[in-house]
Amino acid sequence: MKVATEKAHFDVESIRKDFPILSRKVNGYPLVYLDNAATSQTPQQVINSITNYYSQYNSNIHRGVHSLSQEATDAYEQARIKIQKHFNAEKSNEIIFTSGTTHAINLVASGFTSLLEKGDELVVSALEHHSNIVPWQMLCERTGAIMKVIPMNEHGMLDLAEYENLLSEKTKLVFINHVSNALGTVNPVQKIIEKAHAAGAAVLLDGAQAAPHIKADVQALDVDFYVVSAHKMCGPTGVGILYGKEEWLNKLPPYQGGGEMIATVTFEKTTYADLPHKFEAGTPNISGGIAFGDALDYMNTIGFDKIAAYEQELLEYATEKLLKIEGLRIYGVSEEKTAVISFNIGEIHPYDIGTIIDKLGIAVRTGHHCAQPVMDYYKIPGTVRASFAFYNTKAEIDTFVEALEKAKKMLS
Ligand code: ALA
Repeated sequence: MKVATEKAHFDVESIRKDFPILSRKVNGYPLVYLDNAATSQTPQQVINSITNYYSQYNSNIHRGVHSLSQEATDAYEQARIKIQKHFNAEKSNEIIFTSGTTHAINLVASGFTSLLEKGDELVVSALEHHSNIVPWQMLCERTGAIMKVIPMNEHGMLDLAEYENLLSEKTKLVFINHVSNALGTVNPVQKIIEKAHAAGAAVLLDGAQAAPHIKADVQALDVDFYVVSAHKMCGPTGVGILYGKEEWLNKLPPYQGGGEMIATVTFEKTTYADLPHKFEAGTPNISGGIAFGDALDYMNTIGFDKIAAYEQELLEYATEKLLKIEGLRIYGVSEEKTAVISFNIGEIHPYDIGTIIDKLGIAVRTGHHCAQPVMDYYKIPGTVRASFAFYNTKAEIDTFVEALEKAKKMLS
């Protein structure tokens, strides 16, 4: 019902005009960009934000008394406040700029080194991206902590009963994605957080794949850490954030040493700056941070409810059409999904399909999607993954399906 109501108001053609790249051709065909889970495209408003920074007020922040430095500092701190408001963090100093989700996870994993003891337990899920596995494995190697894994089922959903069995007084931290990058599963994060807290464990949510589609409210979720990348939500690459509850960020030691993160430095002793600067050593990605704020403005102007409803409509349309292709199997059929479809056709290798449809101007991701445990579960080397954004159209899905039929004929 909701989908139908929103449908009437979603003017995808006018939205597409904001994205210059969408009118280019690839290999002689109009680009059909269905690799949005890897990175989203950038609207002119965000491109303008970056150009404006470099052409009008490029300057280092928090350092100068001169006007340009003040302007850049104001814009950067304004962006932090926009991000705080977007995710409904209580305070702006709970928003730490990072280079992206991976950096943010590594920051927290590094910080927990001094908080864990041998035999402490960490809980991860079978659905994770490598960036939410490997930093924690490295933490376990450093500390002697043990990692336990919530299993998944055939539908690409987590086994919550087993999750509860894994939790104990030894559990210190649960880290899990809000949405699976490989399958699009939306995890029941509210329940996961409640159970973790009841066991006394903190929770980090990898929001990289959720944030472009779902407006997370970190206070309502009561999550301890939430991490995202700007480039998956119409912003530039090389910037993202760590949200952390103030009490947690105060407990964690700095991740990197350098300029800006200190209060005083002598050769005998250094004291650290307050939040958020304690975690922001060195000159940051200034234009990126500002443009991230502008990307959020752009998406909020369209409206996350409308975006989500339209993308669900695309997901339903594409799922129905794809399932008409004989031999096509979709991996990940959770009831709650973002607009991601991971699939294979018969025994055809996903790379071969990706390569052929690229010749027809269609961009999808193929392979293990940095989620090898998910592929191992299904005993496959990888999938073809089509991931949709609010600027995709049903006509593009038709083109995609026709291209797949062609590829299937050539490869069978
Ligand atoms: N994490 C990104 C993806 O899923 C790169 O494609």
